[in-house]
Amino acid sequence: MLGRLNHVAIAVRDAKSAAKIYGVAFGAQISDAVPLPEHGVITVFAILPNTKIEFIEPFGADSPIQKFVDRNPDGGIHHVCYEVPDIIAARDTLIKEGARVLGDGNPRIGAHGKPVLFLHPKDFSGALVEIEQA
Ligand code: CO
Repeated sequence: MLGRLNHVAIAVRDAKSAAKIYGVAFGAQISDAVPLPEHGVITVFAILPNTKIEFIEPFGADSPIQKFVDRNPDGGIHHVCYEVPDIIAARDTLIKEGARVLGDGNPRIGAHGKPVLFLHPKDFSGALVEIEQA
């Protein structure tokens, strides 16, 4: 049921400038900055051969990552995202096994136009986990 590591997300004050070093020093391909008002973030991706690094920057007045960035002004790892073949089946199994799904439990459309859910960090060794339908 667990698929590829889709991305590791790093929350920062300025996503474009955070991604820059990956382009100039590692030669990674860097995406444009994309505002996602419904998620309260601006995203920039560094594309690696086997996964992506997603830089997220607070966007709007009540961004869900604002507190995290306030606590980590130099940036920090915010979440990891795993692909699953069927997000509803994955959610139901996770709940059955005692994991907590954040929000109302219904998948939302994430940064790649695919359904995503977030899982409680306390159930995953302190790491916020996102699952995305592959
Ligand atoms: Co993500």
